[in-house]
Amino acid sequence: MARIVDVAARLVWDSRGRSTVEAEVAVKGARGRAIAPAGASTGSGEAKSIDTRQAVHAVNTEIRSFLLGKKLEQSLVDQSLIALDGTPDKSRLGGNAIVAVSLATAHATAAAARKPLWRFLAGKRQVAMPVPQIQIFGGGAHAHGSMDLQDFMIICVGAGSFAESLEWTAQVYRAAGARLAARGALRGVADEGGFWPAFKANEEALAELTGAIADAGFEPGADVGIALDVAATQLWRDGRYQLALENRSLSASQLHALLLQWIERYPIVSIEDPFAEHDAEAMASFTRTAGERIQIVGDDFLVTNASKVREAKTIGACNAVLLKPNQAGTLTETLACWQAAQAAGYNAIVSARSGETEDVSIVHLAVGWGVPQLKVGSFARSERMAKWNEGLRIEEALAGTKLPYPARKLFGRTITAASAPSR
Ligand code: PGA
Ligand code: ZN
Repeated sequence: MARIVDVAARLVWDSRGRSTVEAEVAVKGARGRAIAPAGASTGSGEAKSIDTRQAVHAVNTEIRSFLLGKKLEQSLVDQSLIALDGTPDKSRLGGNAIVAVSLATAHATAAAARKPLWRFLAGKRQVAMPVPQIQIFGGGAHAHGSMDLQDFMIICVGAGSFAESLEWTAQVYRAAGARLAARGALRGVADEGGFWPAFKANEEALAELTGAIADAGFEPGADVGIALDVAATQLWRDGRYQLALENRSLSASQLHALLLQWIERYPIVSIEDPFAEHDAEAMASFTRTAGERIQIVGDDFLVTNASKVREAKTIGACNAVLLKPNQAGTLTETLACWQAAQAAGYNAIVSARSGETEDVSIVHLAVGWGVPQLKVGSFARSERMAKWNEGLRIEEALAGTKLPYPARKLFGRTITAASAPSR
């Protein structure tokens, strides 16, 4: 097995104009490179990023000397990084330094094997394209709280391919923009490229999005469903969920009732972080009530942590997990979380962060690991489009030879009690 001959990092800039870490890992004849993303609505259990300059310095000094001469093997490198850091939250060397090196290691390993990363990760397994969750309206911490909920997304449940999902999304995205412009309610785009609307209530976004799906010529629910990220940890203040836009505050059970009402009224197929990260009881109660009908995703609640997924399973909280490599800190831990999800019968979604770059590694992880869904933000801004376009290239390479596109299996005819996601 090849030995590592170089490890280096530099400071680069992300989609919010903030500095971040780019790392490179090399063996003789092959090199890998990756950039750390950054979240704005972070869970408290995430790997901690440190100041970019310090993180770059850590890679160029301590991490470099520790890894030089070691075998280029993902789990070995990741275990070394975890041990060298020595903290439970990676706050000494920095989650940003560690995830960049971990991802660069994956790229170097695939390059040494002369394979695209997705194909290297898939090995002999048959893989299919993931189903995208694509943001149409952005709010919460990504739009200065213009709406309380963070992501209003679509899932093209009736589409027959990744490419078709993107075509349908382009039409819905444009239809949504046209509706907002016609109402004078278009302020611009939020951090992940979704429209930043001037609405008076959160529910308006649901009504407008359902309208946009219909305007684009699709049947809401049957062709295109709605996915929400409430990012409810951000709403939690003084023991209640604050809907600042509507000037009201809700108890967990009131929020539970409101979400159920929305599920009745709108073609919602998935809700992420419906309650705050500490509110396991509310999460379990909501899953008991709605988990047979919709996908309930833990992001801040599960922070890409395999043990948290196993705990969630024992109390029946959520039926899906978001996989963000920089929440876990290394690829090995991210993969362990995906394996825990599979063992628990949970769905999974590989996800970008709100601060992103041209780095497209996560698309390769989703395909290569066989994760059935992918969330990378909206359908604008090149840090998002780079990932959707990479998906198109991979789908072309897969054409006709692998498993069918899983949208209908996952969400076909919308999720009903009779066709719930396996739990
Ligand atoms: P973040 O948002 O990257 O700001 O955490 C993404 C998400 O909540 O899914
Ligand atoms: Zn989230």
